[in-house]
Amino acid sequence: MALSRTHRFQRFLTPALNSAARRTNTNASQTSTEGDPEKLNLEEKVAVITGGASGIGYAIAKQFLKEGMSALSIIDINKEKSEEQVKLLTEEFGEDKVLFSEGDVSDADQMDAAFRNTALHYQSIDIIVNNAGILDDTLWEKELNTNLRGCVIGTLLGMQYMAKSSSGEGGIIVNIGSIMSVIPSSGFPIYTMTQSGIYGFTRALGSSSLYSRTGVKMLCYCPSLTDTELLKDTSDKCINYNFANEFQEEIASCTVQKPENVAKGLVSILGEAEPGSIWIVENDQDPYEIEFPGIVKKKKMKADDVTKQEQQM
Ligand SMILES: NC(=O)c1ccc[n+]([C@@H]2O[C@H](COP(=O)([O-])OP(=O)(O)OC[C@H]3O[C@@H](n4cnc5c(N)ncnc54)[C@H](O)[C@@H]3O)[C@@H](O)[C@H]2O)c1
Repeated sequence: MALSRTHRFQRFLTPALNSAARRTNTNASQTSTEGDPEKLNLEEKVAVITGGASGIGYAIAKQFLKEGMSALSIIDINKEKSEEQVKLLTEEFGEDKVLFSEGDVSDADQMDAAFRNTALHYQSIDIIVNNAGILDDTLWEKELNTNLRGCVIGTLLGMQYMAKSSSGEGGIIVNIGSIMSVIPSSGFPIYTMTQSGIYGFTRALGSSSLYSRTGVKMLCYCPSLTDTELLKDTSDKCINYNFANEFQEEIASCTVQKPENVAKGLVSILGEAEPGSIWIVENDQDPYEIEFPGIVKKKKMKADDVTKQEQQM
C-alpha cells in the first residue's frame, strides 16, 4: 500500500528512526572535548557560515560561539540584518569574534573575496557551513543558483583553503540540506531538486579516498521544518495553487522545530560524523544519521538479460 504524502513526511518524525546506526568517528586529527569524547572542541577553530544573518545560520553562529569557538565569519546578502546580528553577537561574546562580509553565495568573485577576507583576518578557516538558501519555486533560477551554485562555490573555496593537498590543514564542510533532500516534496519540486543535489554532491565528495587526500570531512545536515523566515508565506512560493495545496497536505501533521535545536544538534555531531554522512534533525530532537540500502531491484530482469549477464561473468 502506498504511503500518503503526509505519511511520507511523518515517517521522519518517528522516534524509532532515531535508533539508526550512529557510526564512530575515526578521525584522530580532530580533537574532542574532555566531557564528551565524541564532541568536537571548537576552541581555536574559525568557521565561515553563509546565510548567517538569520534563521538556522544565525542559530549556528550563536551556538558555535557559546561552545567557545575562536571566531567566525558570516557571509550574507542582507547587509542590514547581518550588521544588526553581528552587533548582538559582539555584545554577547566580545570584540572581534565575528566578521561580516556582504556577498551573494552564487557569485564566485564575491565569495572568493569573502573567504580571502576571513583568512587574512583570522589566519585560518577550519569549518565551513554552506547554509544560505531560499525556498521559492516561482523564482526557480534564483533558487537553483543560490541553493546549488552557492553550495558548489562554497565547497570549492573550502577545499582551496582547507585541503591538505592545497596547503590547508584539513577541516569540515557542512552542507545544509533538508528533509526534502531525501523525501521529495510534490509541493516544491524545484526546491526538492536543489536539496537532493546537495545531498548527492556531499555523498560524492564524502569518499574516504578524497578525505584521506584532503583531510576535509564533508557532511550533509538535513533539518526538517524549522521556524524561520524561509517558511513564511509558502503558498505564494509554490508554482501555483495546486502545488501549494499539495505542500499544505504534506506538512499537515509535521511539527516545526526551533532553529536553536538544529544548531545544538549540529555541534553535537561535528566530531563523530563520518565523511559523506547524512544527518536528519527534526521535531526538536537530537539528530540521527541515515543510511540507504543501495540499489533495490524492483522489477524482475527478463530471462535474456539474465543470460547475457551470466555470459559476461
Ligand atoms: N526553515 C526550514 O524549515 C528549513 C528546513 C530545511 C532546510 N532549510 C535550509 O536551511 C538553510 C537556511 O534557511 P533558513 O530557514 O534559516 O532561512 P532564512 O531565510 O531564515 O535565512 C537564510 C539566510 O540566507 C541569506 N541568503 C539568502 N540568499 C543568499 C545569497 N544568495 N547569498 C548569501 N546569503 C543569502 C538570507 O539573507 C538569510 O540571512 C537553507 O539552505 C534552507 O534550505 C531550512
